[in-house]
Amino acid sequence: MSPHATAQHFELIDLHPAPTDVSKAVIDGLNRSPKQLPAWLLYDRQGSALFDAICEQPEYTLTRLEKDLLGTQAQAIAEALPTGCLVVEFGAGSAEKVSPLLDAMHEPSYLAIDISAEHLQEAGTRLQERHPSIPMLGICADYSQPLDLPLPKAWQSKPMVGFFPGSSLGNFEPDAAINFLQRIRQLLGEKAQLLIGIDQPREPSLLEAAYDDNAGVSAAFAKNLLRRLQRDLAIELDPEPFTYQAAWQPEHQRIAMALVANTPQTWTIGASRIPFAAGEALMTEYSYKYAPIDFLDLAAQAGWQGSQRWCDADDHFSLHLLTQGDDARMNA
Ligand SMILES: C[S@@+](CC[C@H](N)C(=O)[O-])C[C@H]1O[C@@H](n2cnc3c(N)ncnc32)[C@H](O)[C@@H]1O
Repeated sequence: MSPHATAQHFELIDLHPAPTDVSKAVIDGLNRSPKQLPAWLLYDRQGSALFDAICEQPEYTLTRLEKDLLGTQAQAIAEALPTGCLVVEFGAGSAEKVSPLLDAMHEPSYLAIDISAEHLQEAGTRLQERHPSIPMLGICADYSQPLDLPLPKAWQSKPMVGFFPGSSLGNFEPDAAINFLQRIRQLLGEKAQLLIGIDQPREPSLLEAAYDDNAGVSAAFAKNLLRRLQRDLAIELDPEPFTYQAAWQPEHQRIAMALVANTPQTWTIGASRIPFAAGEALMTEYSYKYAPIDFLDLAAQAGWQGSQRWCDADDHFSLHLLTQGDDARMNA
């Protein structure tokens, strides 16, 4: 494994969960009450393309706000980072947001982690063409599970900065978010920093529209999950009698996204039969929103402390730069 500075080829290491692990995650999720599948299952090749289309919808302002912030603040952010550091992006998606940062940084290297292998290969190839002199590598893996980074030797002593944009931390429930932040603290090393994009609570109608756009792209994104289960896991199901819903739940400060069965039905997975009652929900994804003070409290419980924050003019979206703290609760 040798990410070459001048090659246009973007190397990808595939550590995607094995089919048996994917089946197990699905069966476990369908046996929960309410039924709930891990959000990463939304991202097969088609799901990733649909997510990119969601980012273009007028209601989904998050991506535009974060891209604008990264564009205008890249220099300020880069000044806070050491020369020669390795940017480790969690859930890189189309890997566009990191580009201005890489331009502004001094001698960076870049590692992209994502569950969606083909999309990551394509995104990484485009990014490598745009930044031919920056060493890059991709890893297809599930970052919600403990992860070892198979780093090239030349990268092992580099200072690291984690990059976690898209408010994707909001897909974790709060305890799992703390757990994830603790794990990446250990993964990145004690001198590491973390740049993380966090969407904030605001008018519920705006949030609900962002996750259930008029053009129906968010609904298509959720329904693609059912097609993926049919195709990849040979689950016998009918995707049609499900309706997509996205609701703001103020008691949890989250948008809850679900596919709701319009009529009773049964899915067949091998020898198992999974019944759905009429009106029963399959939770596909949560998106927790955090005011800056609440996010910093959560991060402190994982041993991170805020060092800088950048936000848009309306203070709807924040980029937090975190360093390692000594919070006594971090090992609780
Ligand atoms: C909400 S999208 C954000 C994409 C991009 N970072 C952005 O900000 O526009 C989440 C991304 O994380 C990836 N992802 C979601 N869950 C993941 C997991 N558990 N492990 C690895 N990648 C994951 C998805 O494939 C997708 O590209």
